[in-house]
Amino acid sequence: MIARRDEKDNAQAIGARGISGYDGRLISCLVTAAMLHPPETLYESRLDSLPLIYRGKVRDVYAIDTDLLLIVTTDRLSAFDVILPDPIPGKGQVLTTVSNFWFERMADLIPNHLVDRPLAEFLTDPAERSQVMGRAIVARRLRAQPVEAIARGYLIGSGWKDYQRTGAICGLPLPAGLAQAAELPEPLFTPSTKAQVGIHDENITYAEAEQILGGELAAQIREVTLAIYRRAAAFAKTRGILIADTKFEFGLDEAGRLVLIDELLTPDSSRFWPADQYRPGISPPSFDKQFVRDYLETLDWDKTAPGPRLPETVIRQTAEKYREAQKRLMGSL
Ligand SMILES: Nc1ncnc2c1ncn2[C@@H]1O[C@H](COP(=O)(O)OP(=O)(O)OP(=O)(O)O)[C@@H](O)[C@H]1O
Ligand SMILES: [Mg+2]
Repeated sequence: MIARRDEKDNAQAIGARGISGYDGRLISCLVTAAMLHPPETLYESRLDSLPLIYRGKVRDVYAIDTDLLLIVTTDRLSAFDVILPDPIPGKGQVLTTVSNFWFERMADLIPNHLVDRPLAEFLTDPAERSQVMGRAIVARRLRAQPVEAIARGYLIGSGWKDYQRTGAICGLPLPAGLAQAAELPEPLFTPSTKAQVGIHDENITYAEAEQILGGELAAQIREVTLAIYRRAAAFAKTRGILIADTKFEFGLDEAGRLVLIDELLTPDSSRFWPADQYRPGISPPSFDKQFVRDYLETLDWDKTAPGPRLPETVIRQTAEKYREAQKRLMGSL
């Protein structure tokens, strides 16, 4: 309402300077369109009506009150834990849609942080709503646990490095002679510590996770992590995607109940491989930042901030990969 009046005032002011009524209406329409159509790309959100409490690598977190958060998934992309200066258009919407899809599919295994109340209830300004449309959620404000829960079905990434060095992942022994990207005999739970922005997360043993979380909570997180992974991996396989590994975050509510938070089974938090291109012995292409990582490896960049600019083609191909992952998983865009 308020915005409508502003926009009318604006058009009237222009009209007073001599633009015809037709032009005034046209300008008014354009202003309305700009306000009500979400921008395709969002690097940093700016919501003046709520206090910003955290800008993560990808998400901007606002406090609604003591119990609720408004979480905006931007188009920022981090590689090697450095936030790059170029956003990937539409990435935030893809991550939000894919997470919501999985949260619902896992709801019988574990509650999640989503609160089913309309955005308009908390963002009354249409221009602010439009800015974050399709990429903002209302979530319960929970006590985030300082351990990230990683499930691995295949031997890749830091797991592969660990195995080559020690014959185990996070202290869990594996058969000798496994190739890179080999399917593991059983999915593994391999926790890591959650590091501050700019510092790499670090793999820890299950015993260390128990020390941080307590035995009971660690066991509960391990069990539900593996249950979610198994279900998701089986589903994704029917869509031609292998989930090599994935990372979950958990929070505790007032009553000490475990709740899934942050994002779930997205191309940012997981390695998705196209099943038809998979073979052990090589690192298969994945539906994530592969283009960006490959490009960055060609540069003389020491992988510390600030990150380099990306060429237009890398940005376009990366955006396309994110959309393709969503399309394959959900069958639509
Ligand atoms: N429901 C919730 N309650 C409390 N904190 C939450 C909730 N959902 C997400 N968070 C926290 O909000 C932040 C979101 O930021 P973002 O996803 O950008 O990640 P980050 O912390 O920079 O790093 P990472 O790459 O490890 O996810 C995370 O710190 C996450 O733990
Ligand atoms: Mg996160």
